Amino acid sequence: MNMRLKAMKKHIFFCGSEHCEGQESSEVMEAVKEKLVEAGIHKEIKLSKTNCLGLCGNGPFALVYPDGIWYYNLTTDDAERIVMEHLVNNEPVEELIMHRISAT
Ligand code: FES
Repeated sequence: MNMRLKAMKKHIFFCGSEHCEGQESSEVMEAVKEKLVEAGIHKEIKLSKTNCLGLCGNGPFALVYPDGIWYYNLTTDDAERIVMEHLVNNEPVEELIMHRISAT
């Protein structure tokens, strides 16, 4: 298996379509990327942009997989909490969650 894929533990998808971009989705993604580097876990977390998720107006959104967590209304100030609380300590940031996808 590819070593980079082997190291990956989670994948975060940021909506990169018009409405969310207008609400600074790229800036939020960059802020998360910086915090991942600071936390030393940037090789474990893959970041990608998606097309519109169909929930325009409540963005920007970030979907964390495999956890099934949909964060919404994000700002750059939320990046540190998402990285430290959710990705490092495995405790999703409840007040930023719009939806959870249950595997059961
Ligand atoms: S533009 Fe992000 S949900 Fe539609």
